[in-house]
Amino acid sequence: MTIRAFPKGFLWGVATSAQQIEGGFAEGGRGESIWDRFAANPGRIEDGSDARVACDHYHRWREDVELMRALGVGAYRFSIAWPRVVPEGRGVINTIGLDFYDALVDRLLQNGIRPFVTLYHWDLPQALQDRGGWGLRDTADAFAEYAALVTTRLGDRVTSWVTHNEPWCIATLGHEEGHQAPGHRDPAEALRVAHHVLLSHGWASERIRQNVPGAEVGIVLNLVPVSPASPGKADNDAARRFDGFFNRWYLDPLFHGRYPDDAVADRARRGHLAGRDLPFVREGDLPAIATPLDFLGVNYYSRLVVQADADGEPVAVQMVPEEELTDMGWEVFPQGLHDLLLRVDREYKPPRIYITENGAAYTDDVDTAGRIADVRRVDYLRGHLLAAHRALADGVSLYGYFVWSLLDNFEWAHGYSKRFGLYAVDYATQHRTARDSAFWYRDVIAANAVDDAT
Ligand code: FCB
Repeated sequence: MTIRAFPKGFLWGVATSAQQIEGGFAEGGRGESIWDRFAANPGRIEDGSDARVACDHYHRWREDVELMRALGVGAYRFSIAWPRVVPEGRGVINTIGLDFYDALVDRLLQNGIRPFVTLYHWDLPQALQDRGGWGLRDTADAFAEYAALVTTRLGDRVTSWVTHNEPWCIATLGHEEGHQAPGHRDPAEALRVAHHVLLSHGWASERIRQNVPGAEVGIVLNLVPVSPASPGKADNDAARRFDGFFNRWYLDPLFHGRYPDDAVADRARRGHLAGRDLPFVREGDLPAIATPLDFLGVNYYSRLVVQADADGEPVAVQMVPEEELTDMGWEVFPQGLHDLLLRVDREYKPPRIYITENGAAYTDDVDTAGRIADVRRVDYLRGHLLAAHRALADGVSLYGYFVWSLLDNFEWAHGYSKRFGLYAVDYATQHRTARDSAFWYRDVIAANAVDDAT
């Protein structure tokens, strides 16, 4: 067995998001979010559930901080629910909502846990959606105001700030494919949305820096290494195009201040843009988006293998048998994390990278006498930490790692059917039980090292 030690000060954390765990949807003056509305539509959520109660974290947060303390984590990545602090998105401020996060932050700090706060993890106030949501430039403005408000209240204690979680999902899943809130299927709108989300990141970053001296500000992207299904030209081209719309559409503006030409041309060819112009981009937008970041957050779960379909369009294909996939249908491919980190580090040179999410959904392997032996989750996490370690050895500026997730939770359109937690949640009683992976992760953190299990 070989022990792989991580650098001194490496940040070990767990991640969650407000909509997925809080519940308390109509309590303490919280407004409606687009996910509340989306889930209320029959057929949108696989198991017919909604997030009105979720993990009841709104009431059990003290207990949940205890769970983190037991793991020994150095940081907790969570998100603020915009509709909890500004119920209509703009205007009246709900101090009860701000108080909730204030108390959580204090409790974390008392336990030696660094709050790592995401401002937007998909729960737009419905009132803003009613006016046009992220398709409107105005929403970027509203977001910057909201960022200013939250950082004014918490910025004396919270220094790590994420503006957005996974803009690709907001734009594509929410507005092009319709699988997520608000459930639109309009590719032209999705491009506008992506731009306004990126723009709001730039504007909010400025407000955060004004309010929080010494802040570290970043954005979280879901990135995938894309491999062609065959060495042929058509598949290679399909993989390049897929990479263009999935990864580079976000990385290029953030780090290079421009959208990728080939991907723009591709969108124009598909009729999603009138010409090669991006009509929603105004003077000054791209420099605002490319405002220097302190860190890039990378969410990594799997790779994608892409081939050209009969019309030459890129489609993702699965290379491994179903029994080897996680419950999300995602291939377990740790090497992809190493390759992705290297690519991002070399091509985009963020000053710091954090792996802000990594984890696996599995139904439990064995559950006897109260013990949950989630061997597959431990293997998954170990494999990915070893890949991260190899990336560190190759010189990547990696500073921390967050497991998704502390708890089983509301997995968006899948409802409660997918379980990602280090702690299992019994939704009938809200009882939390540590899985073996929780004990394993606790030991990794204590040793600041991972073994290769050979
Ligand atoms: C990511 C989301 C997170 C969670 C995981 C499984 O895309 O950021 O909220 O749902 O996937």
